[in-house]
Amino acid sequence: MLSNEHILVTGCAGFIGSHLCEALLSLGASVVGIDNFDPFYGRDQKEKNLAGVAETDSKKRFSFLEMDVCNEDALIEVLKKHNVSGVIHLAAKAGVRPSIPDPGGFIRVNVLGTQSVLSAASKAECKRVVCASSSSVYGNNVKTPFSESDDVHHPISPYAATKLSCELMGDTHHHLTGLPIAMLRFFTVFGPRQRPDLAMSLFLSKVSKGETINRFGDGTTSRDYTFVEDIVDGIIKSYQRIDEHGFRVWNLGGDHPTTLNEMIETIGVVVGREPIINEMGMQPGDVERTWADVSRSQSELGYRASTSIRDGLIKQWAWMQSQGEG
Ligand SMILES: NC(=O)c1ccc[n+]([C@@H]2O[C@H](COP(=O)([O-])OP(=O)(O)OC[C@H]3O[C@@H](n4cnc5c(N)ncnc54)[C@H](O)[C@@H]3O)[C@@H](O)[C@H]2O)c1
Repeated sequence: MLSNEHILVTGCAGFIGSHLCEALLSLGASVVGIDNFDPFYGRDQKEKNLAGVAETDSKKRFSFLEMDVCNEDALIEVLKKHNVSGVIHLAAKAGVRPSIPDPGGFIRVNVLGTQSVLSAASKAECKRVVCASSSSVYGNNVKTPFSESDDVHHPISPYAATKLSCELMGDTHHHLTGLPIAMLRFFTVFGPRQRPDLAMSLFLSKVSKGETINRFGDGTTSRDYTFVEDIVDGIIKSYQRIDEHGFRVWNLGGDHPTTLNEMIETIGVVVGREPIINEMGMQPGDVERTWADVSRSQSELGYRASTSIRDGLIKQWAWMQSQGEG
């Protein structure tokens, strides 16, 4: 239980953040959520996500503030006012492809925003910080599965480079201040409320309507898809265990790579329609494969993903239908 914890969640109106807030509230924590409704996708979807959080907040322990994580002074004020014990920092400009034309925007929000959160957390005497990193830091690593001890000095998109920079800033900040900091490398997250730019969400929508989908590459690229509830479970476990470690990087993945072709086939089965595929070239910045070695997170956190891609897609599709799709 987390009943004595007052936790600040950044990016709380987003896909993973809204699920996280619900889970923290159900465990008894008080939660302050902040988000600036970055226009990357619709504010309406984010407001619906927040409405979902409010519905689960029967004890009125959730409060929301619209603000930018880069505003360190405002963050300090919020952390002090709400007597926040720890921060879970998910706010970011997400997505590999949009980072290529806008590296500066990604650096501002992801790198400077993370530094702002770390500095504010120390100044407000918070006890711990957990940050979202990404499997994209592994770049085109050929050794599988990807382990936290692998060399990650060759990210292939500005997005990945910003996430790696955040890990470095976290390590440095821990060294200088002693603040316990966890960096979590999420592997392609899916489930209800998934960001509309992500392939599964797009494909579920298009295949169900009999529309053509663009498949980049020959379909043999693979991803270690991870259901959002498993990610949330890993985030909470890392929040509860980071004090023992000081600074730590953990993979949170499904430990079960699926090729793009297999994913598309499963989507066809879930929506009950044969996918129509338009073959396109590989996209710059996209990696060939991801696959999490979860032995460290399993042994140190007791983390283990339990939802298969098929079961997770059935839940995601049911949610999309409840929102008027299909
Ligand atoms: N979804 C995935 O597959 C995946 C994989 C790896 C890592 N991640 C990371 O997980 C985190 C959450 O991702 P998500 O998929 O839920 O994305 P999301 O876009 O749904 O959520 C991010 C939220 O952060 C908010 N935000 C952006 N800039 C902000 C700022 N300057 N100040 C305050 N709020 C801001 C956005 O409005 C959004 O609601 C991100 O850090 C992302 O990089 C996600």
